[in-house]
Amino acid sequence: MAESMTGLKRSHRCAEVSGENVGQEVTVMGWVQKSRNKGGIIFVDLRDRSGILQLIFEEADCGAEYFAKAEKLRSEFVIAVTGKVEVRSGAANPNLKTGAIEVRAKSLRILAESETPPFPIEENSRTKEEVRLKYRYLDLRRPDIQKNIMTRSQVAILTRAFLAEEGFLEIETPTLIKSTPEGARDYLVPSRVHPGSFYALPQSPQLFKQLLMCSGYDRYFQLARCYRDEDLRADRQPEFTQIDMELSFVDAEDVMDVNERLIQRLFKEICGVDIPLPLPRLTWKEAMDRFGSDKPDMRFGMELKDVSEAVKDCEFAVFKGALEQGGSVRGICVEGQAGMPRKKIDSLVEFAKGYGAKGLAYLSVQPDGSYKSSFAKFMTPEQLSALTEAMGGKPGDLLLFAADKTSLVYNVLGALRLEVARQLDLIPKDSWKFLWVTEFPLLEYSEEEDRYVAMHHPFTMPMDEDLPLIDTDPGAVRAKAYDIVLNGTELGGGSVRIHQADIQSKMFEVLGFTPERAGEQFGFLLEAFKYGVPPHAGLAYGLDRVVMWMVGADSIRDVIAFPKVKDASCLMSEAPAPVEEKQLKELGIAVSWTDGEQ
Ligand code: AMO
Ligand code: AMP
Repeated sequence: MAESMTGLKRSHRCAEVSGENVGQEVTVMGWVQKSRNKGGIIFVDLRDRSGILQLIFEEADCGAEYFAKAEKLRSEFVIAVTGKVEVRSGAANPNLKTGAIEVRAKSLRILAESETPPFPIEENSRTKEEVRLKYRYLDLRRPDIQKNIMTRSQVAILTRAFLAEEGFLEIETPTLIKSTPEGARDYLVPSRVHPGSFYALPQSPQLFKQLLMCSGYDRYFQLARCYRDEDLRADRQPEFTQIDMELSFVDAEDVMDVNERLIQRLFKEICGVDIPLPLPRLTWKEAMDRFGSDKPDMRFGMELKDVSEAVKDCEFAVFKGALEQGGSVRGICVEGQAGMPRKKIDSLVEFAKGYGAKGLAYLSVQPDGSYKSSFAKFMTPEQLSALTEAMGGKPGDLLLFAADKTSLVYNVLGALRLEVARQLDLIPKDSWKFLWVTEFPLLEYSEEEDRYVAMHHPFTMPMDEDLPLIDTDPGAVRAKAYDIVLNGTELGGGSVRIHQADIQSKMFEVLGFTPERAGEQFGFLLEAFKYGVPPHAGLAYGLDRVVMWMVGADSIRDVIAFPKVKDASCLMSEAPAPVEEKQLKELGIAVSWTDGEQ
């Protein structure tokens, strides 16, 4: 029978009880982790979110009635115990914060009983994630997940405090907004009052934060829920949280400066790591050339090398062909791996093909200086040594090459570099390599839509010196955009915004918007810009990703209290779900097909 709390008050969380409390009476409450009856003496491990505390029941201390009650305790029962703190009678447990003490119980209340949970509540659970997510409320009791969720709370609180100190205002923006079909797919919400019309859930507060700048709230931030209907991965959820900010009367340097200090503060206070400032910076071009990625993992080397020049006169059709088509030949040098078995090289070739490569050429520099290679027969000895030198290769190294359209070569070698490093365990643990990537292209060409699309969003300012190119060579225009990258993950991104009506109109024109369509979609922003808009810039982090790195989780699911799975469903609540016919009718909605009928 569940007892009440009447007359009881918790004095400590479990792991807050310490050696300093020896001799004192405490009242603790929590869940029974385990209970061992040694005949005449019962040990109970009591758990709450602070940790575990050992309780000890003996009839001589607590009396027959409480002792009988203690005999009934099972895992996950919720109990309240009052007792005296003592130095442990048995050996101390060095693995527990409270390992040197125990509480000798005087009284016990069973606040709630529990059925046997579907999986053990323990750290490093071996239970399948699907089961844990179905019973997420139990999974959330596990100490490792609790640590993640508590760290997340700490990040949110510290962020608020830091930004408030820096003069930012926390302002909420709406989550029922107008759909803007740029970027990812929107989640739509039907309107009952306006049949046939829909709200969208925001992909980010972008337009609203820019409007706040127009309204004079010159430093804004928000921990903003964002919604994107896109394919999910380990670091992507359909709903996620941004640390979102916007600043007026600033340029990119000011935004980067305040954010570097925010990151430094968070990592110092939460992880105890000193991040030296200023953070290194790479232009997008340099990041692509050296790492084949706009979010380079700088914890290890193995940088890409452009060897187009060194191979331009060789007879190898693959290299020649790529160069003739305007592409390039680039490679990575895998140190000391000249002896990599053929089978393993073949698996890397397959890996590269998965990224669109037509193949992967290899040159293994033998310890005696001779070569084993898929293409050496097409090259003179001079060409081979020039190639090896261009790669910085030495005897004992394995050189891997991709030849193709340069964007594809970047993609393939960028991914291959990470894969090889993973396989060979070349990525140091406990290393925090932050950097800014700047000067992104403003636009990228979408083959699918047969037009340029904004690489960041349509409000991003082109670099001043590239403005003249916008009509003649839009693809070459660089943006005043910056991403903050940690260990190969994009933590956040932002830009200086366009605040000049003529540049914004030009941008819409290049993106293929008619003035009418631009007006329909962004009219209120363009209108607002007519009435005195300050220069402004901003940035948003994925809060989930920041916390994921801080706690060393493999997926952002581990730092979100109630995450969704790959198909965007919630295994616990079973959302999304069909609704009643009546609800659809009210909304004027008819469903033309259901799952499986498409
Ligand atoms: P962006 O689209 O780059 O910029 O998003 C900013 C950051 O949000 C995180 N993020 C995600 N996290 C989890 N799941 C997702 N599906 C997901 N999508 C994005 C990433 C990313 O770096 N309004 C602009 C910011 C600005 O210009 O100020 C924006 O939303 O960590
Ligand atoms: P092939 O001429 O297709 O038999 O390829 C000869 C060698 O070159 C094989 O080892 C292929 O894996 C490799 N190769 C083929 N296409 C490419 C490419 N685009 N880039 C690098 N290597 C390639």
